[in-house]
Amino acid sequence: MRFYKIIVGGLFLFLTDLGKAQQVQVLESGKKLSFRGLSVVNDQVFWASGSNGTVVRSTDGGKTIQWINIPGYEKRDFRDIEAFSADTAVIMAIAEPAIILKTTDGGLNWRKVFEDTTKGMFLDAMDVHEDRKTMMVVGDPIQGHLFVAMSFNSGDTWQQIPNQNSDKDVRKVADTEAMFASSGTNLKMVYQQENGQLFLLVTGGSKARLKNLLLNSFNDSLPMLQGGTSTGANSIDYNSSTRSAVIVGGDFAKDTIAADNCVLVQFKNAKPVFSKPLVPPHGYRSCVIYLNEKELVTCGTSGIDISNNGGQTWTLISKESFHVVQKARTGKAIFLAGGNGRIARLILP
Ligand SMILES: *[C@@H]1O[C@H](CO)[C@@H](O)[C@H](O)[C@H]1NC(C)=O
Ligand SMILES: *[C@@H]1O[C@H](CO)[C@@H](O)[C@H](O)[C@H]1NC(C)=O
Ligand SMILES: *[C@@H]1O[C@H](CO)[C@@H](O)[C@H](O)[C@H]1NC(C)=O
Repeated sequence: MRFYKIIVGGLFLFLTDLGKAQQVQVLESGKKLSFRGLSVVNDQVFWASGSNGTVVRSTDGGKTIQWINIPGYEKRDFRDIEAFSADTAVIMAIAEPAIILKTTDGGLNWRKVFEDTTKGMFLDAMDVHEDRKTMMVVGDPIQGHLFVAMSFNSGDTWQQIPNQNSDKDVRKVADTEAMFASSGTNLKMVYQQENGQLFLLVTGGSKARLKNLLLNSFNDSLPMLQGGTSTGANSIDYNSSTRSAVIVGGDFAKDTIAADNCVLVQFKNAKPVFSKPLVPPHGYRSCVIYLNEKELVTCGTSGIDISNNGGQTWTLISKESFHVVQKARTGKAIFLAGGNGRIARLILP
């Protein structure tokens, strides 16, 4: 009898460990602010950014988190960050005015590398190319065209890319078609061996589309929730070995709708072919990443899902709310950040 008890006790422990959201190890929480920018350099170094002028950095895998003050920017909303190392990072403040700052000394000093005071300007996301020099920032439409600026020196200087004013310009958007600055991942600059560069961008609002900003080669409607002010695509990631992409979104105002919130993309002759997962993520999702060609993670305000089959089926692993998930550029660590000043580490079996 005693033996039986021990076995049952042991089994119970094992089961609760597996079933529990133990995999989400919260490192920081409770402050009245929202993180939406996250950039993970390696297993030790990550940076996050968000509202109330907040920037944080860790250089020991999250054991200690350093809060960085940027004098004069205490009220700004830094919705995206791109970190190059423990010393160098670029942050983006969305509006009034739109600003980009860069540090090269671990956050002690910041230099203003971009400012635009145009009324209505609202930056949504940045991305860095694999060359670690080319960067792009995108913003909501000004005079009917999405805003785009680029840097070719890792964010030291920026230049606005003028509109083409032709019917071919995919930056021309429908009324109230825009982007959601929910995780800084609406934009992905990728390189395909056969087809060269693609600057992939996803939109939401009245229309949810996938566009190639570089060659205007596609401007395709996504099989995803759209038509409202809170619906559409929020995030895209790309895997170069399979030439596939995954897009997530949904309706952030009804964040438990678990349909039409994810699109799988296969590129054939430089054109995207869309399909839907067999089992979509379990609600609105604001960020998605590939861990490798088969395994993916997505998160949003209604929870975290993982897939082990390239995005065909998704399993809810936690109902905890996060805005953004990112993995180490070199390494295996996965971190999450979100509302209520939450930062967590995701440990997968
Ligand atoms: C962040 O700003 C909001 C709005 O101004 C405020 O209510 C909140 O208390 C601030 N959070 C912190 C941690 O200061
Ligand atoms: C792209 O799609 C939008 C609608 O979302 C449309 O207004 C625009 O004209 C299209 N542009 C091109 C070049 O097809
Ligand atoms: C794409 O898949 C390959 C093969 O599994 C992997 O080595 C690579 O890191 C993946 N890329 C991304 C961005 O996840």
